[in-house]
Amino acid sequence: MIATATSFQLLYISRLVPAGDFRVVRKIVEVARRMNPARGISGALLFDGERFCQLLEGSEISVRGLMGRIEIDPRHANVRVLQAGAFGDGLMSPRWASGYCDVHDLDGLDTTAAAVLSPIHQFSVVLNRADIV
Ligand SMILES: Cc1cc2nc3c(=O)[nH]c(=O)nc-3n(C[C@H](O)[C@H](O)[C@H](O)COP(=O)(O)O)c2cc1C
Repeated sequence: MIATATSFQLLYISRLVPAGDFRVVRKIVEVARRMNPARGISGALLFDGERFCQLLEGSEISVRGLMGRIEIDPRHANVRVLQAGAFGDGLMSPRWASGYCDVHDLDGLDTTAAAVLSPIHQFSVVLNRADIV
């Protein structure tokens, strides 16, 4: 079943490809900042120097459509969806944000170990102390 408009959230983690150029991060951020609001997608993209962690929020159709393109983007690898679904508690990040976090901030998300907080909740904690650009 397709979730109603603007209620779907998807969080994933991935890695910049080895020898990936840092400048690609800037390009990705530029595209996301330009394209996402036009598609009604909000959320946030964090980069810690080697890993990306991105929350996409919007209608299920637009989030899944964008994720389909992001997944096959050769600039990153090991794309792993951490959480996806319609969560009734509204948008976490009503506008689009991107920024940098510390090297170990994503460790708790980059593991298969069970955690007390849901992945999206953990992400919101990291996002709150990240440098938003
Ligand atoms: C880590 C990562 C995050 C990305 N995030 C977005 C995003 O939020 N919005 C977006 O439009 N493209 C994003 N992209 C770029 C897409 O993969 C793709 O290049 C872009 O949507 C253009 O797709 P198209 O050439 O099929 O039109 C991201 C790419 C990577 C590697």
